Amino acid sequence: MERHIKDYTIKDVQDVYDGPGGLLWEAVMGEQIHSGGPEMTDVLAQKIGLEKGMVVADLCSALGAPARHLAKKYGVMVKGVDATKTMIQKAIQRTKEAGLDKMIEYYEGNVLDLPFKAESIDVVWGQEAWCYVTDKNRLIQEAYRVLKPGGKIGFTDWIITGDISKAELDPLYDTMAFPYMETFEGYQELLKKNGFKVLEAIDQTEEFAKCFDEYYKKVHIDLKPTILENFGQELFDFASNLVTIWRKAAYEHKVGRGLFIGQK
Ligand SMILES: C[S@@+](CC[C@H](N)C(=O)[O-])C[C@H]1O[C@@H](n2cnc3c(N)ncnc32)[C@H](O)[C@@H]1O
Repeated sequence: MERHIKDYTIKDVQDVYDGPGGLLWEAVMGEQIHSGGPEMTDVLAQKIGLEKGMVVADLCSALGAPARHLAKKYGVMVKGVDATKTMIQKAIQRTKEAGLDKMIEYYEGNVLDLPFKAESIDVVWGQEAWCYVTDKNRLIQEAYRVLKPGGKIGFTDWIITGDISKAELDPLYDTMAFPYMETFEGYQELLKKNGFKVLEAIDQTEEFAKCFDEYYKKVHIDLKPTILENFGQELFDFASNLVTIWRKAAYEHKVGRGLFIGQK
């Protein structure tokens, strides 16, 4: 399938997460802004085999909730990178409040140019955010560069999991400001091409679709009065359309979530 690319840049992503979008996503998905919440973070941590004292680079760390979870539960040191000022500021503040600021550092910047030396990181980590990144090959290259030999990359992401036309992808990308999504096979190829051994690749689309049942309910029932009061009808309509079309496409197994583990 020929790749469908939209002209969304890092500025569009920053506008989403600096604005009401960031608040909306936290309200709908929770402080760990990914489907499956802390349980999914544990699944990834256990599959990677996190051990106390490891240095983990969380690429697209958002509010830092997964970073805090990992530092607290697994005793790892985390370096979070995110491009959106509001996310970085909230992450720093919440990490201080949680008393974890000795274990977690945040860096404001684009994950396509990591502020880490070569071979300095034990684990490169990502949860449901690389779909925003405009050059996923470069991202995987950067991950490879910063990892120590034998280090692991582990991530989940929103991906294309079935046959889907450009006309169907267009509105999905527009609701999210995604430049493009990788395919299930595409991520495995990118990992191999850049020197990684693929240890695991799991299509989690069924679980992903079920999460959208919950988001659909949250937007249309639980959060509806709050969204309308704080953000107005336009944002409610936007959120309503978003959860409706993503839920449908996920149940049709056209888009979903992939989990990938690779080793340098
Ligand atoms: C869905 S949130 C990430 C959620 C987070 N991984 C978690 O599980 O809580 C997406 C985040 O990716 C960040 N982001 C998107 N593209 C980026 C890029 N190229 N470089 C750095 N951060 C980026 C956004 O600023 C936003 O905070």
